[in-house]
This record gives sequence, C-alpha cells and structure tokens, in this order.
Amino acid sequence: MKILIVGSGGREHAIAWKLNQSSRNPELFAAPGNVGMMEIATCINITVDDIDGLLSFAKAQSIDLTVVGPEVPLVLGIVDRFEAEGLKIIGPNQFAAQFEGSKDFTKAFLTKHGIPTAAYGTYDSHEEAIEALDQFGFPVVIKADGLAAGKGVIIANDMVEARAAIDDMMQDLVFGEAGARVVIEEFLVGVEASILCFCDGLTLLPMQAAQDYKKAMDGDLGPNTGGMGTYSPSRVIDAVRMDTINKTILQPFIDGIHKDGIEFKGILFVGIMIDGDDIRVLEYNVRFGDPETEVTLPRLKNDLIDIFDAIVSQRLDEVELDWHDQSAVCVIMASGGYPENYEKSKIIKGFENVNDATVFHCGTKMLDGEIVTNGGRVLGVTSLGDDLETARACAYEAVRKISFEQAYYRNDIGK
Ligand code: AMP
Ligand code: GLY
Repeated sequence: MKILIVGSGGREHAIAWKLNQSSRNPELFAAPGNVGMMEIATCINITVDDIDGLLSFAKAQSIDLTVVGPEVPLVLGIVDRFEAEGLKIIGPNQFAAQFEGSKDFTKAFLTKHGIPTAAYGTYDSHEEAIEALDQFGFPVVIKADGLAAGKGVIIANDMVEARAAIDDMMQDLVFGEAGARVVIEEFLVGVEASILCFCDGLTLLPMQAAQDYKKAMDGDLGPNTGGMGTYSPSRVIDAVRMDTINKTILQPFIDGIHKDGIEFKGILFVGIMIDGDDIRVLEYNVRFGDPETEVTLPRLKNDLIDIFDAIVSQRLDEVELDWHDQSAVCVIMASGGYPENYEKSKIIKGFENVNDATVFHCGTKMLDGEIVTNGGRVLGVTSLGDDLETARACAYEAVRKISFEQAYYRNDIGK
C-alpha cells in the first residue's frame, strides 16, 4: 500500500511515524517532507500548494491513499481534484474547508446551529468595521476572515489598537485579500483546549484532548505562536466537561452539517474556550493540530490506516479508539526570535544522545551533510510517561541533549 503525506512539519512527521508502525507496512511518500521523515518516507520536492504536481505524482505512482497535513491545499480544493480522479484522500472538500478558510463561514454556522461561541459581527467595509467597535467592550478580538498563516487574529486592548488592526487588515491589506473582510468578536476569558476529531461525514469521533501552549514565553506571556508545546490527555477536560462538549458542540456539528448538506470527511479540530461550565467554540480547523498531533498519535493504539479506511468508506461508527494510559508531553525547540525574525541554517547536534523521546522534525533541512535549522519551530520532542510529570521530565531531559545556536523553548510545558 502506497501512502502520500502532504506537508513538511512536525505534524506530518508524526503522521508518517504513526503510519510507519502499521501492520500493513505501507510504503510512505512525503511531499515535500523533511529531514526527519526521510528515514521512513521517500520525500519528493513538490510544494503543498502545487495541486497539479501532487495529483500528477499520485497518479503516476498509483498512490492508494493521500493524507493532507496543512490547511492550504485543502482550502485550494485538493480533495475535490483527487476525488474527481477516483483517488482516495483524507481531508474535507473545498466547500467544507471553509470551516478554516473563512471565519465568517464558521461563525454563521455556529450561530445558525446554536453552538456556543463569542458574539460577533462580520464587516466588508472599513467604515462599518470602525463604527461597529462601539458595540464591543475591550479587549476586543479582530480577525481577518481568510487564511493568514496563524497571524490573522489581533486582540486589541483599546480603541487605538482596534482601529490600527482594522486599518492594517482592511486598508493596508497586510494579510492580503484574507483581511479585506473582518470578523470582530467579543473577547472570551478562560482556558483553551484542542479537541481533534476524526469525521466521515456521518460520525464525529473525538480523540483524547490535548493542551497547546500558544504563547511564546513561560507563564503564557509574549506573542501568539503556532504552538510551543502540548500535553495529552488534558487536565482541563474531565468526563463532565467532555459530556457537555459532546452534547453542545460535537453532536450539533454533525446535525448542522447534515441540515446544511455539507459533506465533511477528514479531521475536525475544535478549538474551545472553557470558563467554568461555559464552553464555547473559538475556531474550527480542518486538519490535525501542530503540535497537538505530536502528543495525540503516540498515545493512540489503533492502526491509523484502519481509521483512515473507515473515514473513506464512512464506517467510522464501527471504530473504537483505544488509548495508552500514559501521558505525553511535546516540547517545541524553536529558533531564537520566533515568532518574529529568526536566523536559519544553524547546525543541530545531539540527536544521537536522545533516548526515551521521539524527535519530530518541524523545520529542518540537510546542508553539506549536516542537519540544520530551517524554520521558526525546529523540532518537537515528545516523551511518554506513566504520569504527566514523568513525561515532562523525560521530554526536557531529551531537549537538553539537543543543541543549536539560539535554540529557544518554553520551560513550563505540562507544568
Ligand atoms: P483563532 O484562529 O480564531 O482560534 O484565534 C487564535 C487565537 O486567538 C486563539 O487560540 C485564542 O488564543 C485567541 N482568540 C481567538 N478568538 C478569541 C476570543 N473571542 N476571545 C479570546 N481569545 C481569542
Ligand atoms: N496548534 C494549533 C494549530 O495547529 O492550529
């Protein structure tokens, strides 16, 4: 069986790592992949937005199944293109990918189906957006409607910041067309959690929840990042809260897509804000989270190919997820300066000294025979342990054995 994984980050490395453990011994390909994936997959130099290139490759190689990591190809319609050629692929079609590609699409869906979320308005003109600010208190959340590589959400503390955010998005188009329309939203307080679910269009099967640390610095200070570390299972989501989430968020999603005639197959990532009993949806993503995947798949006992097969054939109701009792912690090692400017091409040393951890590559490349840094997030170091504290100690022990110039990581992941 030949499987193509689209993407090049820690998430895709974790997917490849898990698929590589399947009893079906798949032959793995990754486009474009990364240095870590090279050990288990054939990496091919096709970028994730080159849908024609990916399609030609999949046809020429008779790929049996394609798994899409990032959102960009999904929003570009890779699933529609592959399915039109009779190719099996894991991910939602272009219409359903709007759950990530358009904040307004998601907010309208949530509101229509009574799924709890922050109060909001959507604005197509700069003037309307500025006027609308009077209806919200501060802080207020200003969001570019479209994809903005995780940067399109601004939390404005006062009128000056809010106006500046709207000017940047709508007049200066700092996020391109993605910001020509904005969503303005009530600011929610609480603790965030990520619920990843498998979905075959009929059944939504939640995975055990993960906690992501989005801020750059210890104590949740500093700017937002793609995620500086994760742990699973979540301490925040107990059985009572999971029951609430099932009843008020997950079941209404399935009911809602049926009513609206939306076909959703793939991974649904539900970002939630928890404030006591009040649990609301912050966002949907239409893919695995990064670095949520790096702590979720190592705890999953099922063969991932069985789950993907069940998604394709809409038999997910027959699947029961089985989890290791152990906790997992993933610490992201980043380039100093991330999420702002940072340098690349720093030689990474110490991989050979790591035991009791899996090192997922996020942003690395080969340069003159050495593995060097090639991104803001460089490595995701994951350890399992009988409890969270053990997993945490193990992950940090491994992190301290790896070095590169200006390496940066948070010290409080899983604390
Ligand atoms: P989003 O892409 O919509 O999830 O926004 C990215 C991040 O911004 C979230 O993970 C939250 O940390 C924060 N955020 C988004 N919406 C809100 C909100 N209404 N209230 C508070 N924080 C928010
Ligand atoms: N870690 C957050 C995300 O993948 O969007």
